[in-house]
Amino acid sequence: MSEPEVAPARRRLFYALWPDDATRSRIVRSTKEAVRLSGGRPIAKDRLHLTVAFLGELTAEQLELARAAAPIAVGAFDLTLDLVGVWPQSRVLWLAGRELPEPLEALESGLWDALEDRGFVREDRVYRPHVTLARRARGTETSEVAPVPWHVTELVLVESLPAGRNVHYEVLERWPL
Ligand code: 2AM
Repeated sequence: MSEPEVAPARRRLFYALWPDDATRSRIVRSTKEAVRLSGGRPIAKDRLHLTVAFLGELTAEQLELARAAAPIAVGAFDLTLDLVGVWPQSRVLWLAGRELPEPLEALESGLWDALEDRGFVREDRVYRPHVTLARRARGTETSEVAPVPWHVTELVLVESLPAGRNVHYEVLERWPL
């Protein structure tokens, strides 16, 4: 009798910038009113992050390849988050910076170069670095918020795990920039 085919277990992964506690508090303080006005479902403080590269569902073998793409040594850098807005299609309330620091651009493109070398397919959409603040948000106006300074020192690899009706993010590995 032939063995039934079992699909390999897959894990949902992404590379991200992970705020330290003080930065998380600043993000919440600066965007509290925007989140309230959006009427959306807020993302819990401990899940706030900025995705650098979304990898999707990976097999154990792919996970090892993805892990080997880091580190990317662009050096620590400063990021200022000072704009909020809503993408009408996804209804995501986002926090972003009006300026994209050159090291963040270099980190994203360098990471994808390394991932491509390992067989991953680069996302073809434009990279819009952001922190998702709330989902199912309303409103369209992009507006200024009190600038949130963030001294970025590391890149992390994160697993997204289902947790009831929510998700739980587990940081699997950290690399200094
Ligand atoms: P979002 O917050 O803007 O939805 C974990 O899901 C992280 O990966 C989130 O930051 C999410 O961005 C991002 N993400 C989820 N699905 C994605 C996709 N298909 N392409 C790019 N990023 C994605």
